Amino acid sequence: MSETEPVQQSYAFQAEVSELLHLMVRSVYSETDIFLRELISNASDACDKLRYEAISNPELMGDGGRLVIQIAADAAANSLTIADTGIGMDRQELIDNLGTIARSGTRAFVSRLREAKDGASLIGQFGVGFYSAFMVANKIEVISRRAGTKEAWIWRSSGSGGFEIAPASAAEAADLVRGTKVVLHLKEDARRYLENQQIERVVRTYSDHILFPIELKTADGKLAQVNEASALWQRAKSEIKPAEYKTCYQGLAGAFDEPALTLHYKAEGRLSYAVLLFAPSTRPFDLFGPERKGHIKLYVRRVYITEDAQLLPPYLRFVRGVIDSEDLPLNISREMLQNNPQLAQIRKAVSGRMLSELATLASKDPAAFAKIWEAFGSVLKEGIYEDPERRDQLLGLARFASTKDAEMRSLQDYVAAMKPAQSEIYYLVGESIDRLKANPKLEAARARDIEVLLLTDPVDAFWTSLALSYEGKPLKSLSQGDVDFGESTPAKAGEAEPAPAAVDTAVLIATIKGVLGDRVSEVRASNRLVDSAACLVASGQGPDRELQRLLSLQKHSVGGKPILEINTGHLLVKGISEAKFAASPDLADLCELLFDQARILDGEVPEDPALFTKRMNRFVVRGLTPSVGATRPSGS
Ligand SMILES: Nc1ncnc2c1ncn2[C@@H]1O[C@H](COP(=O)(O)OP(=O)(O)O)[C@@H](O)[C@H]1O
Ligand SMILES: [Mg+2]
Repeated sequence: MSETEPVQQSYAFQAEVSELLHLMVRSVYSETDIFLRELISNASDACDKLRYEAISNPELMGDGGRLVIQIAADAAANSLTIADTGIGMDRQELIDNLGTIARSGTRAFVSRLREAKDGASLIGQFGVGFYSAFMVANKIEVISRRAGTKEAWIWRSSGSGGFEIAPASAAEAADLVRGTKVVLHLKEDARRYLENQQIERVVRTYSDHILFPIELKTADGKLAQVNEASALWQRAKSEIKPAEYKTCYQGLAGAFDEPALTLHYKAEGRLSYAVLLFAPSTRPFDLFGPERKGHIKLYVRRVYITEDAQLLPPYLRFVRGVIDSEDLPLNISREMLQNNPQLAQIRKAVSGRMLSELATLASKDPAAFAKIWEAFGSVLKEGIYEDPERRDQLLGLARFASTKDAEMRSLQDYVAAMKPAQSEIYYLVGESIDRLKANPKLEAARARDIEVLLLTDPVDAFWTSLALSYEGKPLKSLSQGDVDFGESTPAKAGEAEPAPAAVDTAVLIATIKGVLGDRVSEVRASNRLVDSAACLVASGQGPDRELQRLLSLQKHSVGGKPILEINTGHLLVKGISEAKFAASPDLADLCELLFDQARILDGEVPEDPALFTKRMNRFVVRGLTPSVGATRPSGS
């Protein structure tokens, strides 16, 4: 400490921390047990960090003894202490780590908590790290000595407003050679945590997977280890109970849901490593964060190295778990991990295994797979775009809504149900199922009883732009290029009559194009419409309509102007070709209405909503006028 530094200094919490603490104290959350899980997990992280740093800098271990987590209750003082001999925090780290919210997931959590009616259940579902200790404590002291330094510091807070930091007195830091001691002054209604029985129960429930010994101070002042402290992934599969996997998953992921899929195996041979991976059953908060960060923990011979080694591709970022290598050097730097060829091999093998495991689940237990797909399908589909090598595998996993069935359909289902003469897999991308189902571009397919897949995730607009095929059948957007249902099934009854010969299609098209000018690249007769008058499609080259729309929301304009397709059998379209409009302003208005309708059907707004309404009303009023008098009840 420099001499000008004040002995004690006060700091305000970052606004989000204050908000979190406020929300947490206010909500009546009954399962407060998780505070202990969070503090033990921090203590374990701190031991992991020290062990890792000590690989290149052994002095850090000094004579601080082994890595251990110790818990002691003091009934007289009404306090519970959780101590670790991990890395510790210096003054600045205390300020940075225990005054702000570092985790992006937690930040998202705070905003959800703010909106939720039942915030309490969210706390239980996701945990809130260190701050959860304020559920059971009205005052917390954190005394910490960073490994390799002499000074110890004390952080104090009662949870409202802010915290204080001061050098720890000799008495306060007496038994702290290295690491951190968290002292909780328990609230009245949390006194049960002074009982060893309670503490032991919570540790066994939530923290059994922790690799460092967790010791509890007994009545006679001795310390007794309460956790297993063995790496679950190193044990034989046959010896492990489902409940143990679940606890391990929840501990590793900081989650509270059940794992939807557990993958546990050991690879032996040129490379040896143990793999324990879980697919969660609910979406974590940071799933759609811009970093697309994975959460697989890399261990080397039981020593935790990092969570940042990108052991799985970004489209598997929802997977949680551990890969423990026998071959990598312990002193591998985090920077070297990116280009390590052994890791690249592991990454490749484990990704493939994960996907084939998902495929197995899909065939063995479709309902369980459907849940995973519902939660993470939109993430997995990113891989279709990004990972050419696994594209077919991912296409095989993909499930889609369709015009056929309430069930989600696989491409395999689709292909099996194709019409005899049908050669393409049809789909339509849009914002919602309801919108898509009402889209006129489905009309001709529907009339021919041809199934169309309905794609509503934003990512669908991207991967479908790749012009893919499945089992030799090209995927074909009904919103792009020409459609040719071929001689497949003849149209069902109810389809509009073909345009009467009186309508000269070429003239009609020229007329409409003349009015719309270069707002459309082309006007042409459609063979995808039955009941509707017109629709807009993208040209055969370049992006699909939905992709254009999404990109234009981000102010990118891509691709050319759309093509206006008209239904020459529709009365409105026929009207345009009628002589009586030829020289009237109605002609231009009808063309404009046709164009605006087509935009609206794609979920867009008319180019000029006011003008659109005015035009429409002009025709509506004219249509009403002769009949108004005739139907008005007499006497009014
Ligand atoms: N016992 C501890 N030893 C060292 N650092 C700690 C300890 N407890 C908390 N910290 C620091 O405080 C930070 C915030 O903890 P927490 O709120 O639990 O979030 P998280 O563990 O997800 O980062 C940790 O990232 C760590 O840097
Ligand atoms: Mg934590």
